[in-house]
Amino acid sequence: MKLYKTLEDLKKVLMPYDVKNKCIGLVPTMGFLHKGHTSLIEKAAKENDMVVVSIFVNPTQFGPNEDYEKYPRDIKRDYELATQAGADIIFTPEVNQMYDHPKTTIQVKELTNKLCGLSRPGHFDGVTTVVAKLFNGVKPHKAYFGQKDAQQLIVIQKMVKDLNYDIEIIGCPIVRESDGLALSSRNVYLSTEERKQATILYKSLITIKDKIVNGERDAKSLKEEITRMIKSQPLAKIDYVALVDVYALENVEQIKDKVLIALAVKFGDTRLIDNIVVEV
Ligand code: PAJ
Repeated sequence: MKLYKTLEDLKKVLMPYDVKNKCIGLVPTMGFLHKGHTSLIEKAAKENDMVVVSIFVNPTQFGPNEDYEKYPRDIKRDYELATQAGADIIFTPEVNQMYDHPKTTIQVKELTNKLCGLSRPGHFDGVTTVVAKLFNGVKPHKAYFGQKDAQQLIVIQKMVKDLNYDIEIIGCPIVRESDGLALSSRNVYLSTEERKQATILYKSLITIKDKIVNGERDAKSLKEEITRMIKSQPLAKIDYVALVDVYALENVEQIKDKVLIALAVKFGDTRLIDNIVVEV
């Protein structure tokens, strides 16, 4: 496995794969890898001839009061985990390598001004711009994203469609701890008590799913139930709880077809997100 720091070097090594029509898979990450990330890399390794994992804590997707500086980083450990999972190349650019006083932003409208976009203005512009840069640099045939960031996945799928990228976007299931908490690089911020109380997120999603499976269709009462459950944990501060359709991310009143139940909840300074998709 090789590590590259510039897009120029990366392009040189990937060129023969492109020429020979071999399949390149890209797994974009911000590092501090866990089993959620490695599940994406393992899937990519099965489905491609060459797997590129990017590790870049992208400053443009963090708000001014967010955790960019303290975001956990451990490139040595990441290198080992990515290798074990089947990565062929790690791309870890420096910030000034990726951004040279840019004046261009990729913005996916409407899908980005709800849910996480409301409390993190500009976040998705940072995500789509960096992902577009990675797509242009790596030219992957397939790119892997986790369902954990459901809105991000939907936004990227729309960007790919709108900009005619010839890239297959593969959505991958959420990997969870044994008690249901979705793996996240940010879980390390949680105190013991916050970590314990954070299990309410998945518990509440499962409870709501069961209610839908058992016939409940009224989104308002489902939202009230999930809100009540989360509020039962004194350290939980709800950012949003939403029941939306999976295309426009608009609130639904009645559950039909496919509904995305998404939530963002703060425990202390740590903002956690989780979601579940239920089909009826
Ligand atoms: P990051 O948070 O490092 O996540 C990288 C990828 O791993 C994303 O596609 C995310 O959805 C996926 N992922 C994270 N936790 C997961 C879990 N528990 N189960 C399954 N997949 C999981 O998302 C980003 O980085 C950035 O926004 C990025 C796309 C790299 C752009 O900077």
